[in-house]
Amino acid sequence: MGSALAKQLARAKHEVIVGSRDVEKARRMAKPLGKKCCGASYEEAVAQADVVVLAVPYAQAESVLMPLQGALNGKVVVDITNPLNADFSGLVVGHTSSAAEEIQKRVPNARVVKAFNHVFAPVLANAHKWKSKKPSVFICGNDLEAKQTVQKLVKDIGFVPVDAGPLQAARYIEPAAFLMVALAYGQKMGPKYALKLVK
Ligand SMILES: NC(=O)c1ccc[n+]([C@@H]2O[C@H](COP(=O)([O-])OP(=O)(O)OC[C@H]3O[C@@H](n4cnc5c(N)ncnc54)[C@H](OP(=O)(O)O)[C@@H]3O)[C@@H](O)[C@H]2O)c1
Repeated sequence: MGSALAKQLARAKHEVIVGSRDVEKARRMAKPLGKKCCGASYEEAVAQADVVVLAVPYAQAESVLMPLQGALNGKVVVDITNPLNADFSGLVVGHTSSAAEEIQKRVPNARVVKAFNHVFAPVLANAHKWKSKKPSVFICGNDLEAKQTVQKLVKDIGFVPVDAGPLQAARYIEPAAFLMVALAYGQKMGPKYALKLVK
């Protein structure tokens, strides 16, 4: 997901810093993205970025975020995680909370916005090919300005943002992503379809 988003944001002329535990890997990943993009450690990437995309497994989110807590103060953090259990048969958080809300608790001074969690990586990697069929991306968060920033990024890569309200709405956006997983793998539809809100 991280590399697909990096590719699409670079295509949309944003400066992208690929963060990784392995800086050499990050640099390799950033190279084809163009001169305005680079690779860095998580710490360096967060320090330089205006918007941070949390593209790690939900189970690792806390250990990745804790050392970055101070550096994330005031930053927009895009939570794309799905709190899947170990065998992908269900969610480890739901109804009374969500991954997004749990992540916000870990970084209380960051501005967490849920987005992209119901978009499969191959769909994202080919965002520019959807043309008039543009998929929807449900977004929620408690900071209006942060949400507007993420809405613009969604539009820039060629999808349609749908504001689903405060961060608590992640309690419903995350199960929607689980439905997508169940269809893709349980029902064997594959990860090459997307949600679209129609009127
Ligand atoms: N795959 C999808 O289609 C999809 C769709 C929607 C949402 N999501 C969500 O997006 C997030 C990323 O998904 P993904 O499929 O891109 O995952 P992935 O391929 O497993 O990549 C996750 C990255 O997390 C980093 N990481 C940091 N700490 C880690 C640790 N302790 N163990 C393992 N990896 C660690 C690794 O990057 P470095 O080694 O470079 O640090 C790794 O490449 C997940 O929360 C997932 O639920 C996935």
